[in-house]
Parts: sequence; structure tokens; C-alpha cells
Amino acid sequence: MNQLSDRINNLSTSATLAMAAKARELKEEGKDIIGLSLGEPDFNTPDFIKQAAIEAINQNYNSYSPVDGYSDLKAAIITKFKRDNNLSYNAKQIVVSTGAKQALYNIAAVLLNDGDEVILPCPYWVSYSDIVKLNGGVPVEVKTDIENDFKMTPAQLEAAITPKTKMIWYSSPCNPSGSVYSKEELRALADVLQKHPNIYVVSDEIYEHINFKGDHFSIAEFDDMYDRTITVNGVSKAFAMTGWRIGYIGAPENVARACNKMQGQVTSGANCIAQRAVITALESPASKIQYMVDEFKERRTIVLELLDQIEGFKTNEPEGAFYVFPNVSSFFGKTIKGKTINSASDMSLFLLEEALVATVTGEAFGNPDCIRISYAASKENIIEAIKRIKLALT
Ligand SMILES: Cc1ncc(COP(=O)(O)O)c(C=O)c1O
Repeated sequence: MNQLSDRINNLSTSATLAMAAKARELKEEGKDIIGLSLGEPDFNTPDFIKQAAIEAINQNYNSYSPVDGYSDLKAAIITKFKRDNNLSYNAKQIVVSTGAKQALYNIAAVLLNDGDEVILPCPYWVSYSDIVKLNGGVPVEVKTDIENDFKMTPAQLEAAITPKTKMIWYSSPCNPSGSVYSKEELRALADVLQKHPNIYVVSDEIYEHINFKGDHFSIAEFDDMYDRTITVNGVSKAFAMTGWRIGYIGAPENVARACNKMQGQVTSGANCIAQRAVITALESPASKIQYMVDEFKERRTIVLELLDQIEGFKTNEPEGAFYVFPNVSSFFGKTIKGKTINSASDMSLFLLEEALVATVTGEAFGNPDCIRISYAASKENIIEAIKRIKLALT
């Protein structure tokens, strides 16, 4: 019997998780797979944050928290937004959720009506398109390319806008391209949006601190964008806290209120121990997590130098996050080791089977010419993996 809903039957399986599952399967068969497919830091959560969680347990934090988060956590988030982003929010504009993923889901659920269009500059984070579809929205993909560092131009944005456009969603630093929009680039996009006052902006800034360029700019910092922007952030990436599941938004009050209402019917407040630990994380100086950013930067250099030596891999220099997104289309149509590579998915599978290296196909991110290589792995593993990739392709 299959009585599953059309909604779930039409939903794609997260390609990053699917690749991780396939890699795990091969590992269980005894294959020595190197995983460069995962979107999470390979560091432990820093001890000072773990300690805060232990204290919260000992202080008997075991009850439901307010749906939108503890008030002192919201206060820490307000301070963080002011300190790092020059953004002023009050407590009614903040909602704490079970990861940025739930924050994004809430936004789609409270803003989209059936048929509303959401502009997604491609490549985009793997879940955007399905979250939009699950909530009746229509993703409108805007292709960008490596020559333009995978950034959407104002002209492309203008061309994608229709009377049905409700929102534009992007991440900066971007997963999967690592691109970071500068203040000037965001201003140019904001100038286009000025002519369309009913379009919301969802600015996903979860990789904010993993930025090798130094400047992070939030589009809500522009006065004319503040009232129509939902700024999404969380602790998963910068603080190596993926499993703790805490994300948050700063938003116009009515949107935040709606997200709170939505969450109240679906999950209630986020995990109470994790919320207590996040207060400590957000109140700590950035210097406490800088060692991770420095390490990612060194790895980026290694990955780019090694990939450069593989003929046919075209790369740009990502400015943040922990991914490179090489264009591998020059291999399409070629047969190597008896396997024909016609797409990024073929390439990703080829690398898994022939090089024993797990990557993710760009198709999952709306770009069929590229693959995503995560360098959230040890330098040793990165060097060995790229050596294997080179060998497999020659
Ligand atoms: C761009 C982007 N946004 C949101 C998320 C979700 O983060 P969280 O772990 O807070 O749900 C991820 C995780 O991979 C991401 O890459």
C-alpha cells in the first residue's frame, strides 16, 4: 500500500545526505572512502560552549522554553546583530528555531501563498527549492556562472521579477559556491528591489564568520531594505554546533510574530539546553573561534592549488564558507575507465566509485556543470583525496 501524500512524493531527497548515505554504504563494504561531501565543520564544539550546556543541565533546565526562545538568548542575539551587523532589532523581531533550516521553513510557511514565486540565484543551498515547493511556492532559478563568481547581477534580478515574485532568497557567504556579496553588489541589487516594494529578501548569513575576505555585509543594513528583509543566522557553522540545532531570525515584527505562531504549532521552542549554550557562544569574542576560520583558509589554499593541477577542473577563488565549486563540464561526453561522464552527477558518482572520494553534484544546487567539494576535512585527507581524483581522471 502506498498512501503517501503528493507533497512528500514530489519532495526530493537532500542530495548531500543521499551522497553521505551512499558513501557510508561503500565504507561499510570496507572501501576507504574520503568524505568531501559534508556541510559541517570537522571540529568539536569549543569546550567553553560545552561547559555552558553542562551547567544548564545541572541547573535543571528541562522545561519547555518560550516558543520563540529564552529572553536572555534573544537579548544575546540582539547584541550580536548590533555588534556584528550594525542591525537594531527588538525582542519581538527575534525568533529562535531548531536550526536555520527551521527558520527558513517558517519563513516560507508564513509568507508564501500557492503560486508565489521565489527568486533563487543558482547555485543555491540544497533545501531552498524544496522548502519553497513544500509551501506552495514556485522557485525561479537565476543562473550565475563561475566567470562572475556565481553572483547574480542586477540585470538578472530585474529580468526574473514578475508580478508574482514574493521573495528573493540567497546565502552570503554562499553554500555551495563560497561567494560573498560585497556591500556595493548588494546595493546594486537593492536598487532594483527599490522599484518593487512588495518583494521580501531572505538573507541567509549562516556562514557569516567563515569569511576570508573580512567584510560581511547584511543587506538589512541599508535603511530601505531593513523593513523587508529577514536576516537568518545560526550557530551550526561558525561554532561547530550543527547537531545542537539552533538558528534564529531578525525580521519585521509581523513576520517574526507569524513565525512564532507557526513554530508554536509544530515544534514549540528549540532545545532548552542548546539555547543556554548558545548564549555563551554568541557572547564570546570572535577571537575564540578564529582558529577554525584560519584553518579553513589554509585548506582553501591547498584545495585550490591541487585542483589547479587537474586538467579540466575550472575553479574560482571562493571568499567564504568551506566549499569549492569547480566547473567540470569539460569532461562531459568523455569516457574514462569505461564510464561515460555526461553530467555533474555522473562525475560525482565516478569520483565516488573510482577515486573513493565523496563529493556532491552541482545539480542538487541548481547548477548542472559543477560539483561541490567540501574542505571541512583534515589537510591530510584533502591532499590524499585530490591526489586520487587526479589519478582517476588521467
Ligand atoms: C546556506 C545554509 N543555510 C542554512 C543551513 C542550515 O543550518 P542549520 O544547521 O542551522 O539548520 C545550512 C546548512 O548546511 C546552509 O548551508
